Amino acid sequence: MNAYKELEAHYQKIDDLRHIGAITGWDESAMMPAGGGAARSRAMATLNVLVHDLTVDPQISDWLMACENLELSPMQTANVAVIQREHRQAACLTSDFVRAQTEAVMASEQQWRISRAENDWATIQPHLERVVGLAREEAAMRADAGGLGLYDAMLELYEPGVTASQLDTLFEPLKTSLPPLTDAIIAHQANTPCLPLGDHFEVAAQRELGLSVMKTLGFDFNHGRLDTSHHPFCGGVAEDVRLTTRYSETDFLQSLFGVIHETGHAMYEQGRPKDWLTQPVSQALSMGTHESQSLLMEMQAGRSPAFMTFIAPKMRAAFGRAEDDPAWSVDNLYRQVTTVRRDFIRVDADEVTYPLHVILRYELEKALIDGSLTVADLPEAWHQKMTDYFGLSTAGNYKNGVMQDVHWPAGLIGYFPTYTLGALMAAQLFEAAKTSQPETLQQIETGDFTGLLSWLRQHVHNRGSAVSVDQLMTDATGLPLTTDAFLTHLHRRYLD
Ligand code: CO
Repeated sequence: MNAYKELEAHYQKIDDLRHIGAITGWDESAMMPAGGGAARSRAMATLNVLVHDLTVDPQISDWLMACENLELSPMQTANVAVIQREHRQAACLTSDFVRAQTEAVMASEQQWRISRAENDWATIQPHLERVVGLAREEAAMRADAGGLGLYDAMLELYEPGVTASQLDTLFEPLKTSLPPLTDAIIAHQANTPCLPLGDHFEVAAQRELGLSVMKTLGFDFNHGRLDTSHHPFCGGVAEDVRLTTRYSETDFLQSLFGVIHETGHAMYEQGRPKDWLTQPVSQALSMGTHESQSLLMEMQAGRSPAFMTFIAPKMRAAFGRAEDDPAWSVDNLYRQVTTVRRDFIRVDADEVTYPLHVILRYELEKALIDGSLTVADLPEAWHQKMTDYFGLSTAGNYKNGVMQDVHWPAGLIGYFPTYTLGALMAAQLFEAAKTSQPETLQQIETGDFTGLLSWLRQHVHNRGSAVSVDQLMTDATGLPLTTDAFLTHLHRRYLD
C-alpha cells in the first residue's frame, strides 16, 4: 500500500470513530435520560482521546512527506492538503496543555451557567481570566506552527485561509452603514405595525409543519431525521443527519425558522462529495460556509415574500386560522418574520443588526488575544461598544451583556466572525443563483426548491473542502466575497 493509501485508510478509521461520536453526541442531547450522563461523559471522553491520538499519530507526517513524491489526482492532492493542515493543528499542542485547557474550560462553562443566571460577573471573571490566558498560549503555539498571526491562527480553526485583515476590510462597511440603516428601517416599519398571531400553538401541529417544510426544502429523510433538544443543532453524519429543534407553545415562528435554518445546514452535509465521505476533503469547507447554507435557506429564501406566499396557507391550516383573518395574511406574516429591532441578545437578533453583534465581539476578542484588553476591563469595553453601535447601555447588566454567550467561557475565540461571513456569503450566493436561474423566486413561491438545491449542490455542497472560500465564491458568483450583495439585499427587503 503506498503512503497515500495508508493515509486514506487511517482517516477512514478516524471518520468511523467520529461517526460513533456524532451519533452518541446527538443521543446525549436528544434522547438520553439524565441518569445516563456521567457514564456517557466518560465514554465520550475516552472516544475523544482515541480520535485525538489517531490525529496526532507520528506516522501521518511520514505518509504526508512520502505523498510529495506520488502522482495524485486533484481531489487526492486536496485531501492531502486538508490532512496536512488538520494534522498540524492537532499536533502543535502538547497533551498536557490540552488536558489543562479542557479542565479549565469545563469548570468555566459550569460556572458561567450559574454566574449568568445570577448576573454575577465577579464569580466568572477569574475563570475567564484562566481560559483567555490559555487561549493566548494556544494562539502563540498555533501561530508558531502555522506561520500565522495570533488571531489568524485561532480563526483558522473555523475559517481556514481567512485572516483578520480580510475581516477588517469586510466588516468596516457594515460597521459604518448598519447603525443608520437600522434607524431608517425601524422608522419605516413603525408605519405598519405587526398584528399579533395569537399565543397558543399546539406542539404536534408545529412538528408536522416543520417536517413538511423540511420536505419542501429538499431534506432527504432516508438520510436524516428531526428530533427535539434543549439547544437546536444539526448533528450526526452525512449519511444520517440528525437535526433538532425546540418548541415554544406561544411562538411557532421561532421553531419553524429554526428548523429551516438547521435544514440548510443538514442539506449541506447531505450534499457532501459522495465518493469522498470518509475523507477530510469531503468535509464542509468552513464554519462560515456552513452558516451560509443555513442562512441562505432561513434568511434569503425562507423570509422572502415568495416563500411566505407559499407557506401562509399551510400555517393557517396547521393552526386552524381563517383565510380572511388579517393577522394571518401573507403581508402580516411577512412583517412578522422581518421585524427589525435594536436589542441586547445576539441569538435573537434579526439579520440587519446581527453583524453589529458579531463585530463587537470580534473587536473585543481580537484585543483579548493580542493583549491590548484585559478580562477585567471586558464589561466596560462591552458597554462602550453596545452604546456606540446600538445606543444601549449594559452597565451592570452582565447577563444580557458580556455574559450572554457561552463561546468565551468555552474557550472559543475566532468563532464569532463566521456567523457574519455566512450571512455575507448567503446573500452573494443567493443573488448568483437567482441570476443563473431567473425563475428561482417563482419556483419558491410554489414550494419548488429543486432548482435552488441543485445549484447549491453543484456550486457549494459537492465541492467539499477541495477549494478555498475565495475560490468557491469566485467560481460560484464571479467575485470574491464582498459586502455588496448583503447590503443590497437589506436595502431591497427593508426599505424599497
Ligand atoms: Co447555524
